[in-house]
Amino acid sequence: MLTRGEKNSDDRSFGTGFRGKKVLITGGLGFIGSSLAIRLVPLGADVTVLDAMIPDYGGNLFNIEPVKKDVTVNFSNITDSTSMNYLVREKDYIFHCAGQVCHIMSLSNPFPDIEYNIKGAAVLMQACKNYNPTVKIVKTGTRGQYGPSVKLPVDEEAPTNPRGIYEISNLAAEKIMKIYNDVHGVRTVLLRLTNIYGPRSQMRHSRFGVVNWFIRQALDNETIKVFGDGKILRDFLYIDDCVDALLASALCEKAEGEILNVGVDKAVCFLDLVKLIIEVTGSGRWEFSEFSPERKAQEPGDFYSDIAKIRKIVGWEPRVTLEEGLARTADYYRQHRRCYWQSTAAA
Ligand SMILES: NC(=O)c1ccc[n+]([C@@H]2O[C@H](COP(=O)([O-])OP(=O)(O)OC[C@H]3O[C@@H](n4cnc5c(N)ncnc54)[C@H](O)[C@@H]3O)[C@@H](O)[C@H]2O)c1
Repeated sequence: MLTRGEKNSDDRSFGTGFRGKKVLITGGLGFIGSSLAIRLVPLGADVTVLDAMIPDYGGNLFNIEPVKKDVTVNFSNITDSTSMNYLVREKDYIFHCAGQVCHIMSLSNPFPDIEYNIKGAAVLMQACKNYNPTVKIVKTGTRGQYGPSVKLPVDEEAPTNPRGIYEISNLAAEKIMKIYNDVHGVRTVLLRLTNIYGPRSQMRHSRFGVVNWFIRQALDNETIKVFGDGKILRDFLYIDDCVDALLASALCEKAEGEILNVGVDKAVCFLDLVKLIIEVTGSGRWEFSEFSPERKAQEPGDFYSDIAKIRKIVGWEPRVTLEEGLARTADYYRQHRRCYWQSTAAA
């Protein structure tokens, strides 16, 4: 296992795969998109990040601080076909990370999910079909597309019965993109990500990014609320491992047209996660709390990913332990807290 601060991946494993390649990252000022940009620049890619900076979503200009002079930033909405028809041209790879990402928000207002996640995917794919049919696209879908697990760990053959509009919109987007792959030959890799945590996730509110939110509470020495009995199982993947999976999938011919889980085949319950966060940060405390009725209705129960397929096809697997990832995340936010939230506690 790696020690703190070490690079997760040996970038030589990507060889010259991205050198001189033109890459578009939709949602590129958000958590996953900006982390991709920061990895792609030293690999020699010519990176354009597109982001609409929608309020309450995860976009943050500070996220790209380390590469801000090396990337092109375009403030467009992915539903704007005029912009997309132009932006997809001449790109070798597109990482599609833009979207409404919060299942709680989708409960009160489903229309951004339908507009950005479903229509956005269709606008992107149509633009590629018409203006750049040889591009390769990687989509970041969600484990939520499965809904409640029928058996654990969950593999790609499991039924999809999602429990929310956010999850349904991602499943619809995946199906649209698969059609463009299968029927129109626009090569697309369809990833289903588990819970991702790490530096550059938004920290202003608790509606998405649960691990990061717990870390914020611990750093502010607050009480972390553990819903129910805290025994629900999840797999939590560190951002550097997630970025590795996206890059490796983009370069892998055999992954084209495939649906692949990206997660950790080791489950942790929420209570143990919270205890570990408190141990790693050295601050905070926890207490049990009731689920709100809305959260309870949407809670799909235990989930963790079967990653045998991506291991076999792409050769990717996670490398950063939960303890190590939490420590790196806490370090980042200790250093850059003021760029992510107004703290009530002493810094
Ligand atoms: N973070 C996770 O744990 C996780 C898990 C599973 C799947 N995903 C998926 O990965 C993708 C990226 O998630 P993230 O965590 O980086 O979220 P994020 O909110 O940090 O980033 C998304 C970015 O997309 C931008 N965006 C949203 N709608 C847009 C639009 N219509 N046009 C242009 N830009 C738009 C936002 O402004 C934001 O900067 C999403 O599709 C999400 O559903 C994330």
